[in-house]
Amino acid sequence: MKIQKLSGTFGAEVADIDLKEQLSEDDLEVLKQAFVDHQVLIFHDQQIEPHHQLAFSKHFGPVQKLYAEEHRIPDCPEVVVLTNEMSDGKPVGVVAAGDYWHSDLSPNKTPGLATFLYARKLPSEGGDTEFADMHAAYDALPNETKKQIENLRGLHAISKLKNPRVEVTRPGGTEYYKKQNSIPDQAHPMVRTHPVTGRKSLYVSLRFTIGIEGMDDAKAQPLLDELFDQQVKSEFIYRHKWQIDDLVMWDNRSVNHRASGGYDIGDIRRIHRTSTLGDEPF
Ligand code: SIN
Repeated sequence: MKIQKLSGTFGAEVADIDLKEQLSEDDLEVLKQAFVDHQVLIFHDQQIEPHHQLAFSKHFGPVQKLYAEEHRIPDCPEVVVLTNEMSDGKPVGVVAAGDYWHSDLSPNKTPGLATFLYARKLPSEGGDTEFADMHAAYDALPNETKKQIENLRGLHAISKLKNPRVEVTRPGGTEYYKKQNSIPDQAHPMVRTHPVTGRKSLYVSLRFTIGIEGMDDAKAQPLLDELFDQQVKSEFIYRHKWQIDDLVMWDNRSVNHRASGGYDIGDIRRIHRTSTLGDEPF
């Protein structure tokens, strides 16, 4: 196995590995270390089926069953289909998933740990996924801001309707999000400590963080704006231009991401996604 660091602050490509195969304990140990060291791992040319993706994902924690049943692979329900494909006028998978910067499942008490995306069909243009290094974004904050946010907790809301910074684009989305309005917001430290490395990261996101616990909006919103601007500075971003059969995995404890869109409705993109459960942020 060869691990080649990308040129920016994070991310690495892993070559000479076949994710269809049963991995040795030694290889797994190397991969787990690479995962926390590099935060985003990219594997090209993987001819894998959903059950291979599931088996590989399980090495990085308990795999969650997410989204509606009709958007999962029938005989492998932990694998979710993200696509703009339609069949008989109905979406085959989740449309417009991840269209704003976020860390997976941060509105949960125990958010996501690793997420895995595998590219099955790609549009002729667009469809990239962007990743942002939240360790680097935190490290580069002015000391004064670091002090200011040290003990603050961000409020994370699942419903898009509670967040004036985002729009609902998915068909039937308003009805879908209305049902989530009653789910209580979840507070998490705005400065998160990585449980393995001890490094700090900036744990807020434009998609999910709608306020700051115990702070009125007149003060909280400008501070959040400042942090959201910090998170998307070009030096902290890696933009993945997909090739068919790429598998990309990342660490939601220190990486934000978003689907950048930019393709036509009939230009099919199909991604298979798995995600593992993490622990409570501290
Ligand atoms: C996601 O946020 O899980 C999806 C990202 C993508 O489809 O590019």
